Amino acid sequence: MGRETRRRLLLLLLFAAAAAVAESSDADAIRDLAMSVSALGQSWAGDNVCGFEGVTCERGGSGKVTSLNLADKGLAGTLPPSLSTLTSLTALQLQGNALAGAVPSLAGMGSLTRLALDGNAFTSLPADFLEGLTSLQYLSMDDLPLQPWSVPDAIANCSSLDTFSASNASIAGAFPAVLASLASLRYLRLSYNNLTGGLPPMLSALIAMESLQLNNQKSDEKLSGPIDVIGSMKSLKLLWIQSNRFMGPIPDLSGSQLESFNVRDNMLTGVVPASLTGLVSLKNVTLSNNNFQGPKPKFAGTVFPAEDTGNGFCLKSSDPCAPLTTTLLEVAAGFGYPYELAKTWIGNNPCDPAWSGVVCVSSDVVTINLSNKNLSGTISPAFANLTKLGRLDLSNNNLMGVIPDALTTLPSLTVLNVANNRLTGQVPKFKPSVSVLAEGNRFGESSDNSGGGGRSDGGSLSSNSAGGGKRKSNTGMIIGIIVAVILLFVCIALLVCHQKKRKNVDKFRPVSTKTSPAESEMMKIQVVGTNGNSNGSSAVPTELYSHVSAANSANIAELFESHGMQLSMEVLLKATNNFSEDCILGRGGFGVVFKGNLNGKLVAVKRCDSGTMGTKGQQEFLAEIDVLRKVRHRHLVALLGYCTHGNERLLVYEYMSGGTLREHLCDLQQSGYSPLTWTQRMTIALDVARGIEYLHGLAQETFIHRDLKPSNILLDQDLRAKVSDFGLVKLAKDMDKSLMTRIAGTFGYLAPEYATTGKVTTKVDVYAYGVILMEMIAGRKVLDDSLPDDETHLVTIFRRNMLDKEKFRKFVDPTLEFSAEAWKSLLEVADLARHCTAREPYQRPDMCHCVNRLSSLVDQWKPTDVDEDDYEGETSEMGLHQQLEKWRSDDFTISDSDTFSSFNMPRKYN
Ligand SMILES: *[C@@H]1O[C@H](CO)[C@@H](O)[C@H](O)[C@H]1NC(C)=O
Ligand SMILES: *[C@@H]1O[C@H](CO)[C@@H](O)[C@H](O)[C@H]1NC(C)=O
Ligand SMILES: *[C@@H]1O[C@H](CO)[C@@H](O)[C@H](O)[C@H]1NC(C)=O
Ligand SMILES: *[C@@H]1O[C@H](CO)[C@@H](O)[C@H](O)[C@H]1NC(C)=O
Ligand SMILES: *[C@@H]1O[C@H](CO)[C@@H](O)[C@H](O)[C@H]1NC(C)=O
Ligand SMILES: *[C@@H]1O[C@H](CO)[C@@H](O)[C@H](O)[C@H]1NC(C)=O
Ligand SMILES: *[C@@H]1O[C@H](CO)[C@@H](O)[C@H](O)[C@H]1NC(C)=O
Repeated sequence: MGRETRRRLLLLLLFAAAAAVAESSDADAIRDLAMSVSALGQSWAGDNVCGFEGVTCERGGSGKVTSLNLADKGLAGTLPPSLSTLTSLTALQLQGNALAGAVPSLAGMGSLTRLALDGNAFTSLPADFLEGLTSLQYLSMDDLPLQPWSVPDAIANCSSLDTFSASNASIAGAFPAVLASLASLRYLRLSYNNLTGGLPPMLSALIAMESLQLNNQKSDEKLSGPIDVIGSMKSLKLLWIQSNRFMGPIPDLSGSQLESFNVRDNMLTGVVPASLTGLVSLKNVTLSNNNFQGPKPKFAGTVFPAEDTGNGFCLKSSDPCAPLTTTLLEVAAGFGYPYELAKTWIGNNPCDPAWSGVVCVSSDVVTINLSNKNLSGTISPAFANLTKLGRLDLSNNNLMGVIPDALTTLPSLTVLNVANNRLTGQVPKFKPSVSVLAEGNRFGESSDNSGGGGRSDGGSLSSNSAGGGKRKSNTGMIIGIIVAVILLFVCIALLVCHQKKRKNVDKFRPVSTKTSPAESEMMKIQVVGTNGNSNGSSAVPTELYSHVSAANSANIAELFESHGMQLSMEVLLKATNNFSEDCILGRGGFGVVFKGNLNGKLVAVKRCDSGTMGTKGQQEFLAEIDVLRKVRHRHLVALLGYCTHGNERLLVYEYMSGGTLREHLCDLQQSGYSPLTWTQRMTIALDVARGIEYLHGLAQETFIHRDLKPSNILLDQDLRAKVSDFGLVKLAKDMDKSLMTRIAGTFGYLAPEYATTGKVTTKVDVYAYGVILMEMIAGRKVLDDSLPDDETHLVTIFRRNMLDKEKFRKFVDPTLEFSAEAWKSLLEVADLARHCTAREPYQRPDMCHCVNRLSSLVDQWKPTDVDEDDYEGETSEMGLHQQLEKWRSDDFTISDSDTFSSFNMPRKYN
């Protein structure tokens, strides 16, 4: 062999070795597996690991293993640590074997969607279990003899998780509250573990949940506390919580889709609600061995009711209970059906044998003494039906709310002792013959002591966003390179050894020059985009930004300013035609919005729901209105005036004739609007970003909107957007309660940390903004129940589709047409949306970043935008003058102290 020939051979070898690197690490892992696991048999012999039974490799011959399915193969032995290197795995199924020892780290398997470990003999999980498994959808690990463990917080990053089954798997301790952040979870099974304590209230965020099995905890304490959260899980079909220590009543289940309901062997109390017995979806119910009270529930004939023995129903039949029994059960309902009472408040005769705390004389209740019973809840007005009641002692409990006025009608009452509770309101006037003991309460305090709760921590404005992640991935890359180099040398060595035995050198494949599939797809898309109709995006009618509407709103704002903004009820009644149904523009979380006509000027009148505005004092309301009044920005709907009248709180806003963004995006059929072009969407996105940026940082104080969504974004006739309803959260009472209801109400726009912990920063708005961007790109609602289950949640599916450019192209709103440039800008906006919806608040950009990104895009292909400051001209002055004359002759009083010096103020902020 000549020198030259040898050199060529060596070069060829080197190339071939490089080509084999990717494949051989996966192949090595499979060979390691073959060695450490027994009974793989004949099918795992030979050189071609991709041909082994249960092993699937990537098409195209890269040798990367994408799936490993070894279910029910009778395998014993342990998993080799090198299994961790199978980083292209999308499915790893090892269930039904006898594999033992430790489960190796799976943290590098970012593509893994399916992991099944059930029915093996594994004894430990890796310290990084569930870390990095960001694509995981299915996780099943039942029946494993593990050391006691708890579900790691890392599961929060498995944001697409649909199924989590870990029954009989030694999970110990408190119920894993981290699960509440898995919005797409539909199937959860944690039966036969050692869980203790209550269900975290934030589980009510799991509205996609269809099957929940928590039965038969093996710990002594078992799961306990109330089961109220299941009332929020409207998709729930199966609930198995038998053999625990759950307490309290069954919550309201109306609207539920439950089919199988098993609560046997708990400590549940109260009357079985009609919302359960009336459920048409119901198939199987098991209620036995609890402390249910009241009438025996009667289910439809199609329901399979297992024996419901071991409860405290009043009769053996389903007939109604005696009136006295019904009254006392209503009393118990006020206290939340406490378990202590439910133990003896059973059957149909409270006097025989007498229920605890109840004293009867000839079948009439004369005394109720429930002092020192650790009762919470409220005093039911049903007490008033006990006409022979002489003494009522509820002292030394934790009762809240007011003393019902109805109690003053009790004819025989002589002693009422409610001392040492947490009662509020006023003590009603009793007859002089009644001795009332009421010290140690909170009378006179408003029942709302949430203290406004609006101005929380002002948001984390730190900008150390991207840095950490980058550094990490750099280290990862360096390690990767080192590993690759080492592997390369090993491979060369191996190949040189083998070479002597092989004859045909030409068999080696050449070095792959293939680009990543994602890149090539992207190029394809751009070509398609160029061929498509590009007119859609460039046809922005610049004259749309008309002068008239802006001038008008300035006029109205000015006029209200001059009236100190306070309007009389009569004026608003007249403006809205007595709040006529025909004038209703919409209903929101805070009340009903009417279209109003104030002397020819259209306004929107929000009539606040007195339930949410509550008893907030007039002064406080005015103080907050005063702040809101000063928040003026071109892209925020201006508050023009207000009215307080008795309990009524009315807010008057400028009228936006273009409807809500929601109507333009997803309710097109109802609203009759034509789809927005991409340029219109971008302009709206930028408008909204500017409005929010101002709220967050540029206004006098930091405002956090908290309820950003397309129905709160209003458009004017020129399709320029303004954000509405900001600051209302601050006006609403009792943050805790409203938080819960709002979590249910506008789920989908809620940042994960807000939904789970209630923690509010400006990044909560950034998240919601990202969701809105996604809706504008995809042209669909954030939650769409009409789609298949794994596609209902836009954020999840959007992020998933972004990984595959081809899919993403199809995913984008089909009504949009793109030039190549517009498509590029769409990809940038999509990327921005992805960052805005990052799981961790610190990973999301600030709003000013969004403004910068978008304004560079909007200007990029629309350089001839009209300068909107042009409109400052004689039109506005004339309008104002005429207006003033009209208003002067009207029935408002113009306050002299108000000058017009602040004219045009709203437009100063841009
Ligand atoms: C729990 O798992 C073990 C194996 O780890 C099994 O032997 C046992 O039968 C399982 N128990 C139940 C109740 O399924
Ligand atoms: C989720 O992933 C991010 C980025 O990889 C990481 O910083 C964060 O700690 C993870 N969260 C949890 C709860 O593990
Ligand atoms: C679960 O709790 C039971 C009873 O408290 C105990 O006997 C058992 O060892 C516990 N199992 C684990 C895995 O912690
Ligand atoms: C209902 O209970 C019956 C009898 O136990 C059982 O055969 C059936 O599978 C159950 N159906 C459902 C939906 O759980
Ligand atoms: C209480 O009395 C009122 C008026 O008599 C009656 O309508 C109501 O049904 C009674 N409630 C109970 C629980 O008996
Ligand atoms: C209620 O019972 C407590 C003892 O549990 C007793 O001190 C109190 O006097 C009783 N109240 C009335 C009104 O009988
Ligand atoms: C009283 O009730 C509260 C919950 O309402 C509970 O946390 C507490 O342990 C109870 N105290 C006693 C002594 O039972």
